Amino acid sequence: MCPEETEVGHEVIEPETHDDADSTLSSDMQSSTASLTASIIEYRTIHGRTFHSQRGPGDAEYWAPNDNQHNTSMDIQHHVWTLLLDGELYLAPLPDEAGKVLDIGTGTGIWAIDFADEHPEAVVVGVDLSPTQPEWVPPNCKFEIDDVSLDWTWHSDEFDFVHLRTMFGSFTDWQHIFNEAYRVCKPGGYVEDFEASADLISDDGTVTRENGTALGQWGKLFHEAGWKTGRSMAVFEEDTQVKCMKAAGFVDIVVKDIKCPLGQWPKDPKQKEIGSYDQLAVEEGLEGYVIYMFNNILGWSMDEVQVYLAKAHKNDDEPAKSPIHKRVLEIPGEMAELVMAPG
Ligand SMILES: C[S@@+](CC[C@H](N)C(=O)[O-])C[C@H]1O[C@@H](n2cnc3c(N)ncnc32)[C@H](O)[C@@H]1O
Repeated sequence: MCPEETEVGHEVIEPETHDDADSTLSSDMQSSTASLTASIIEYRTIHGRTFHSQRGPGDAEYWAPNDNQHNTSMDIQHHVWTLLLDGELYLAPLPDEAGKVLDIGTGTGIWAIDFADEHPEAVVVGVDLSPTQPEWVPPNCKFEIDDVSLDWTWHSDEFDFVHLRTMFGSFTDWQHIFNEAYRVCKPGGYVEDFEASADLISDDGTVTRENGTALGQWGKLFHEAGWKTGRSMAVFEEDTQVKCMKAAGFVDIVVKDIKCPLGQWPKDPKQKEIGSYDQLAVEEGLEGYVIYMFNNILGWSMDEVQVYLAKAHKNDDEPAKSPIHKRVLEIPGEMAELVMAPG
């Protein structure tokens, strides 16, 4: 693979043209060992939703809730992300025996659990701020509760594969994250990061950042809020992954830029399935995504937040009219093979 080989997701996903779009979702709907201290499970409650408690020595401040409603949305989103990768959990060309694997910001642990199921010979460690992972997991999977904005406690060269997914808005210092990923990953191993753009726009111009639609403004508002917290949401737009991977020392960086439809508007059945699940995930997650960022960070009143949510839901109810999509970047970066001098 060439360094920085880029596959660009500029192709237009064709919308279905007739009005009687089949709204049936596919029938394929759908999954610590850490000793918990009281402070870990002491959550903040904001307007009835629970969030990570922001205690501890690190820099952690996570913007989305950690309650059941949000976790359901993340699990549906996991299905969307895997469908986008043609059913795969990653793109790195891993060997048959994957070795030791680290999932940073594992959330509900669904990616780590699926990876452990798929690779029974591997050892998978998922880490997150919140202890929201299930207790019953494959024997080769375990979870740790930690703040990865601090120096990582794992040894240098301990892992064969380090995975991150949708961590935008989480860190003030992404370079630290990729430097640490580089340090704990063995020479010849891989670090892979999958990040989504916060922009929800459509190719036909009906939903744009400028035209006042609720979903069109989504990206603009999230970027504003992210910059205010010092944790940029614009990881996709600012090319943060590639810049930081390069600076950390990764040698072979492959960028895959993918379009992700939102809604049931695509003509192609596979794209329609992806868009349908994406719509479900967004509807489930909508309130959780905006409540902290718009109320606490942008200073909106809860009435303003509710009006915005109502408008955004209305857009979701009429997806066939607007071929809305977001874009995601999937980036496996290969570690440099260390060449030992003879003698
Ligand atoms: C959008 S969720 C993604 C979950 C998972 N990677 C997935 O794709 O299903 C981001 C996760 O990162 C975690 N997180 C944010 N900042 C963190 C930090 N400093 N240390 C550890 N986890 C963090 C959050 O608690 C949340 O569960």
